[in-house]
Amino acid sequence: MVDAPHSDSTRSVRPTKSLVGTIALPADKSIAHRAAMLAALGDGNAQIVNFPTADDPQSTLSCLRQLGVEIEDREGILHVAGRGLEGLRPPTAPIDCGNSGTTMRLLAGILAGQPFDSVLAGDASLSRRPMGRIADPLTAMGAAIQLTDGHAPIRITGGQLLHGIEYRLPVPSAQVKSAVLLAGLFADGETTVVETLPSRDHTERMLGLDAFEMNGLRYLTVQDGLRIPARTWAVPRDFSAAAFFLVAGSIVAEGSLRLRGVGLNPSRTALLDVLRAMGASITVENERVLGGEPIADLSVSAAPLQGISVGGALIPNLIDEIPILAVAAACAEGRTEIRDAAELRVKETDRLAAMAANLKALGANVEETEDGLLIEGGQPLYGATVSSYDDHRIAMAMGVAGLVTRDAVTVTDADCARISFPDFWDTLQYAAHGEK
Ligand code: S3P
Repeated sequence: MVDAPHSDSTRSVRPTKSLVGTIALPADKSIAHRAAMLAALGDGNAQIVNFPTADDPQSTLSCLRQLGVEIEDREGILHVAGRGLEGLRPPTAPIDCGNSGTTMRLLAGILAGQPFDSVLAGDASLSRRPMGRIADPLTAMGAAIQLTDGHAPIRITGGQLLHGIEYRLPVPSAQVKSAVLLAGLFADGETTVVETLPSRDHTERMLGLDAFEMNGLRYLTVQDGLRIPARTWAVPRDFSAAAFFLVAGSIVAEGSLRLRGVGLNPSRTALLDVLRAMGASITVENERVLGGEPIADLSVSAAPLQGISVGGALIPNLIDEIPILAVAAACAEGRTEIRDAAELRVKETDRLAAMAANLKALGANVEETEDGLLIEGGQPLYGATVSSYDDHRIAMAMGVAGLVTRDAVTVTDADCARISFPDFWDTLQYAAHGEK
């Protein structure tokens, strides 16, 4: 069970024998950021159905408002007055991206092509994350971008003429891919991004780009002159939020959970395959399409898990699910190896170090490697107080771990779950005890 919040946003989760119920999941934040930005750049009035209330997508809305975009929530549907590609207004202050890397990196691509100057700023965590990865290709396109020691604040001098480039991504990153493609909307000629390992493909789907594959590489091209028509966007429920309950439903001794309308974009669902390969009992029903994205209803019931080896091309596909996968691994029989995941060190916190420290605090046998984790599963897990490191996915992963430890797990600064899943702690309580 989950105790009521303490004033410092500490949450304690006590073990339970059974989970049951239908889980209300938040809408997908990756898709929401893009829907809001494309609606803002679109020709005419757009609507977004099921826009998430979580902090990160809300940061995107407030940034767009700073750029003169009128956005209104009318009875749960977001109405965005699209300003076309030429209609954004100069901001009067630094644009505050909060904790959201997707907001900052994608907006940098858009702002690089504007006639006005802008500054993108973020919170302490976002200000530690690497921004050279977007400044490099945008500068190659002709943008004038000044970083602060490789980080935010990002100063963009407007009025530059951008030109298309072909850019091969040095690290698989949907954020970098998207920043370059969005800048391509404002550039002369063709802008092509080349991926060696595929990352989530929402931007290209939403812009209607066709991927071209050759010799194991994936090419995506934006032609100049591409306009964005106004339309209604619908945001599926977030697979990355579902992930916490897919693992919870697998590791708690009894019961089953239902998750409805979950986005199952194949560039996001590797965790489903990995959990199934570990022995999880997950069914997928009622497959359909919502707003150009595949969705379905999922059910999960308790099942003994086995360790697994995960690396290579799978990693970008489950990059946000690795903290909760590490919890599943600690509960599985045998060894789990996660490799090729050094990107986790530059997320909201160093997620490899955070998960290694937190799982060790519970008594798990975990070794941190340069680019991953080695976890000998099946050790008894005990209660402990652990830090969220102010990272929503670390907080939620540790909350799920608390369902199966011998005593309560207390997560400090647990409120950061609101970044992607504002009702997470109540939802966990509901699943564990059928009440909020
Ligand atoms: C995201 C891409 C991923 C992911 C992040 C959201 C996106 O980051 O970790 O939570 O919406 O494009 P990278 O592209 O930097 O790996």
